[in-house]
Amino acid sequence: MTIHIGAQKGDIAETVLMPGDPYRAKWAAETFLQDAQLINEVRGMLGYTGSWNGHKVTIQGSGMGMPSLSIYANELIRDFGAKTLIRIGSCGGMQPQVKLRDVIVAMTATTLASPSQSIFKEVNFAPSADWSLLQAAVTAAQSRDIGTHVGGIYSSDTFYDERPDLNEQMVRHGILGVEMEAAELYTLAARYQCRALAVLTVSDHLGTGETLPSDQRERSFGDMVEIALEAAFA
Ligand code: ADE
Repeated sequence: MTIHIGAQKGDIAETVLMPGDPYRAKWAAETFLQDAQLINEVRGMLGYTGSWNGHKVTIQGSGMGMPSLSIYANELIRDFGAKTLIRIGSCGGMQPQVKLRDVIVAMTATTLASPSQSIFKEVNFAPSADWSLLQAAVTAAQSRDIGTHVGGIYSSDTFYDERPDLNEQMVRHGILGVEMEAAELYTLAARYQCRALAVLTVSDHLGTGETLPSDQRERSFGDMVEIALEAAFA
């Protein structure tokens, strides 16, 4: 057991899917895993372990934002031996070609301030996805009838960001979408020689102001879970 994960050592798989929302972890585990068992409920941050096509998988909520994800990813990697960590979540679209419900497979995650920032001092570290996971996720996404984009995203520490110039610069530099967790996940994976990826559904668009109706979010989320599972065991 760790401070934030009330599981025993063998309870957690080497492959962990990490949605931000703990209820998404519950839904995904009950929908896609066989014999899903609750392995964590400390602070309501639900985690489940079960199997998918004979492979042991954990689905653990990360909470919102890099400080929260950092807690769970650190403990999963350092205390429970997680080796492959895939964030599944939503993002705001930033480019005109990125539409609601499309999937973004995040090759890199630019950030202004992650919990790891201070250790790099003046260096701007480039958090990037694991290539084998990225390639497998793109193949899995393209085999479905979903618009798929591969490229850079921006991991923000502020949802209600009042710096419009920052978003403008991100758009100008080809950033596909904004979310709040991937940069820290990629940085931790690099530090501890793990594989990491973020697969994201576009739930809103910063340019058009559109948002995905809640009934369509579940379907998109299901697609992401399947893409992540196929990529993890490709
Ligand atoms: N996650 C989903 N939409 C987002 C947005 N617009 N900004 C940050 N994170 C998000």
